[in-house]
Amino acid sequence: MAQEDIFKKLVSHCKEYGYVFPSSEIYDGLGAVYDYGQYGVELKNNIKKYWWDSMVLLNENIVGLDSAIFMHPTTWKASGHVDAFNDPLIDNRDSKKRYRADVLIEDQLAKFEEKIEKEVEKARARFGDKFDEALFRSTNPRIVETREKYDNLNRRFVAALTEGNLTELKQIILDNEIVCPVSGTRNWTDVRQFNLMFSTEIGSTSDGAMKIFLRPETAQGIFVNFLNVQKTGRMRLPFGIAQIGKAFRNEIVARQFIFRMREFEQMEMQFFVKPGTELEWYNHWKEARMKWHRALGFGDDNYRFHDHDKLAHYANAAADIEYKFPFGFKEVEGIHSRTDFDLRQHQEYSGKKMQYFDPEKNESYIPYVVETSIGVDRMFLQVIAASYYEEDLTKEDGVPDSRVVLRLPSVLAPVKLAVLPLVRKDNLPDISRKIIDELKFDFNCQYDEKDSIGKRYRRQDAIGTPYCITIDYQTAEDETVTIRYRDTMLQERVPVSNLRAIIADKVSLRGQLKKL
Ligand code: GAP
Repeated sequence: MAQEDIFKKLVSHCKEYGYVFPSSEIYDGLGAVYDYGQYGVELKNNIKKYWWDSMVLLNENIVGLDSAIFMHPTTWKASGHVDAFNDPLIDNRDSKKRYRADVLIEDQLAKFEEKIEKEVEKARARFGDKFDEALFRSTNPRIVETREKYDNLNRRFVAALTEGNLTELKQIILDNEIVCPVSGTRNWTDVRQFNLMFSTEIGSTSDGAMKIFLRPETAQGIFVNFLNVQKTGRMRLPFGIAQIGKAFRNEIVARQFIFRMREFEQMEMQFFVKPGTELEWYNHWKEARMKWHRALGFGDDNYRFHDHDKLAHYANAAADIEYKFPFGFKEVEGIHSRTDFDLRQHQEYSGKKMQYFDPEKNESYIPYVVETSIGVDRMFLQVIAASYYEEDLTKEDGVPDSRVVLRLPSVLAPVKLAVLPLVRKDNLPDISRKIIDELKFDFNCQYDEKDSIGKRYRRQDAIGTPYCITIDYQTAEDETVTIRYRDTMLQERVPVSNLRAIIADKVSLRGQLKKL
């Protein structure tokens, strides 16, 4: 099945099974805004807990923070967001559709990459074990030509972005004959800058209302509290402050479901270090964050780093962790070495010292910062995309059978176990309820007695429940149950008294954190 079709299916799966709903759907929804349903909120909470504990529990020198969404407007002047948090937008005059000029060019680059990978895969299939990939990539004329096109385009693109040259961005689009995906024409307007921050007013007009912004990142709440936390927590460099919270961006193009939203959640950690040690820490956090992703078991090859060619003016190194989504490798998380830019700007704009007194050196200075920044929603989409499988279960008898299963890591699954009485009579529901009453303190359990046992298994597979416990007549006799494993569909008989230990071992966050 085409990757695009898979993506469409998983979007409708999310809606059908209570993971994600369009916001205010009864009024036809709101572009790029979504609500999380009964299972979505659990999965989201589990992702956040995995991140939070990996930062705050596992690192003695990282503490948490929960700063307000509203901040003094000067914050955003100092951070550069008022003047420079812009996206270059372009309209197609025929379709009247609006695009991000940089994304149109990035898509073109991705097409070149895709072409190269297709050639490689074709050759691999042709030459089998004898295939020398490195040699093929460096000598095959079609690949060499496409690589050259890629490099030329990328060089021009990076230069235009670095100089903020909007005329050149349009020229690149024209020279590469990039067409509007809807109208198919090249009838483009000029490229203009568009500020992504939402604004509102605080206070009533008679008081003299003040224009404020909805924060476009959580990081600035950490920077302005740097000294509060450092002093009250008696923190010594290097140390980190972690925060999870909502952020808002008026994205030009709403697409790819919850990949790019206008209201979303970030998990950010700012790590304050001695100047001169920042690149060491940058490399440390790159590796640590990649390990966090890979520990979920979705396949190491599905992740890669993308080191930035174009650095923001305040950064001296930056990389993304990308995941192979059904629509290609895309950013899930950013790791940035932000120098002392933010603290220095806040010092200048507020007139308050943002310095750390180093007792070893007996001097004060502004620390440097390494940031790790990941979107909860984008991580959610990554987890769902990696877990969604359509399986053909047709056996030798030829009777068609299939299932949709979310192979969520047990530690993230919204429901850990379903308790299912084989029939709705003869005391089996009561026994089931008793088991839930015992296990509900430790795990999110679900009781289901409706429909055949096969249908109930399928329902739990679609939700991603890793364990189904079936209560049958033998349970009443010898206090044993069957436990069915979602991924293998195998079943085994175990004593009721062992259930807690068996499941705890498989779903524990402790086990997951130990992998880091
Ligand atoms: N403080 C740095 C910062 O905000 P960013 O690269 O703009 O950096 C960090 O964002 C992460 O936040 C991204 O890697 C992505 O996971 C998430 N993110 C950014 N914009 C988003 C959006 N419109 N919708 C969903 N997630 C978004």
